[in-house]
Amino acid sequence: MKLRFLGQAGLQIELGGHNLVVDPFISGNPLAGDVNVDEIPCDYLLLTHGHQDHVVDVENILERTGGTLISNYEIVTYYGEKGYQGHPMNHGGKWNFDFGSVKYVNAIHSSVLPDGTYAGNPGGFVIDNGAVCFYIAGDTALTMDMKLIPITSRKLDFAILPVGDNFTMGYEDAVIASDFIECDKIFGYHFDTFGYIEIDHKAAADTFSAKGKELILPEIGKVYEL
Ligand code: NI
Ligand code: MN
Repeated sequence: MKLRFLGQAGLQIELGGHNLVVDPFISGNPLAGDVNVDEIPCDYLLLTHGHQDHVVDVENILERTGGTLISNYEIVTYYGEKGYQGHPMNHGGKWNFDFGSVKYVNAIHSSVLPDGTYAGNPGGFVIDNGAVCFYIAGDTALTMDMKLIPITSRKLDFAILPVGDNFTMGYEDAVIASDFIECDKIFGYHFDTFGYIEIDHKAAADTFSAKGKELILPEIGKVYEL
């Protein structure tokens, strides 16, 4: 599989020939100026929650590609009323899509759409296609609910966790999260986009390596083969 970081919490994933996009915030992010949002393929667009820094490019990507939105019931209903097709989920639920299974799991955060519409409760995703199993945490605090993931899922190959602090957990708590989810290969995201979440990259990496874990702080636009 291939993972491309689109900035903030945005991900482009190629999984067995299927193209997934997660939380696209490209046209609103000066740091993602080299990413062309009009060239991103999308069969499915996954949203963890409704905040501006996760949904800015949802409509233009779905309009161009005809992709299917996967999110909680409230967000899928909101975009459904605008004419976009979607698959609604809620916490603890799993569904088998053609690219693999998706489980919508708990996150501790808030969720409202940019126009003020209630966006349900925020979540994360555990995705498993039989070959690879990974966790996208979304915006979240460290939570004991993360301990349920290794109990209810296959062994994670890697996980994507917020590390920017202030609005989500920081890297110190993300190390503990990696213990909870029993996964030592972590991609950090939700960092450096604006002042509140700028982090010291070396301190973050050292915090993980001191525990024998790997923290990758991905470069925007770069593709990682996994
Ligand atoms: Ni958020
Ligand atoms: Mn966010």
